Amino acid sequence: MTARKDSGEDVRRELDRQAEARAEMMVRWDDVSRVIREMSRLKPTDRVLDVACGDGVLAFELAPHCAYVTGVDISDSMIALAAERTIGTGVANVSFQVGSVEHLEFPANSFDRVFCRLGLHHFADPKKALHELIRVVKKPGHIIVADLVSSGDPDRREVHNKIEKSRDPTHVSMLSARQMRALLADCELSIEREMTWETRRRFNEWMRLVGADKGRFDRTRRLMLEAARKKTTDLQITGGENSLEFTHRWMVALTLALA
Ligand SMILES: C[S@@+](CC[C@H](N)C(=O)[O-])C[C@H]1O[C@@H](n2cnc3c(N)ncnc32)[C@H](O)[C@@H]1O
Repeated sequence: MTARKDSGEDVRRELDRQAEARAEMMVRWDDVSRVIREMSRLKPTDRVLDVACGDGVLAFELAPHCAYVTGVDISDSMIALAAERTIGTGVANVSFQVGSVEHLEFPANSFDRVFCRLGLHHFADPKKALHELIRVVKKPGHIIVADLVSSGDPDRREVHNKIEKSRDPTHVSMLSARQMRALLADCELSIEREMTWETRRRFNEWMRLVGADKGRFDRTRRLMLEAARKKTTDLQITGGENSLEFTHRWMVALTLALA
């Protein structure tokens, strides 16, 4: 796994740029948010933490079904965007704050449920991050981890991660589903329920989501076309220069922390 300072200025600057791109695109992923919420067995009395909350899409899905949601993200701009989105919605039980998963500013056992969607592949030390999530959840308590997973084959996974990193320099490493299960087990999180599914992505839209400039766009497309030609990933890449599509695989795990 590539080591990097996850709170470095360059990472924050890139994440802030991505927040701007997101603000323009208003991507909601409502279906994925709903599936995650339904899997979590949320109760109306639950106090919830959403870590690496981004612009708050998942937090807004959870809020009507629980007592309170706190969203935390390392990027000031993501948090500003999330806070801006609460204005005029009438949603009063959600708030957002800047913070890193490595040092969450909450006492132990503060939340009934903790969520982390599309965060793990950004974290320099996913195990340390999971231990922070475990620290802040009330035991026994549920932690819901949702992320994209990569190939079970190390070489194919490496090519995939190279493409992801070319698109988004804040990407650290996408695990295979098996590695994800091993990581959760290593943190003594037992999986009570798991779902995986595939979703087709349009390359151009996927690049716009991170506000990629032409250089980054062209470089990543070259890598994608090369992977398609050589068949070196499990991404099921189809189409040509301007019509590239590929498949992402989601994995959502409802896990239980006992201690
Ligand atoms: C792909 S976005 C996912 C946002 C949101 N969870 C969602 O599903 O829409 C990844 C988020 O992780 C945040 N992030 C990256 N490293 C982080 C860290 N060390 N601590 C907290 N947030 C982090 C980024 O700022 C970004 O908003």
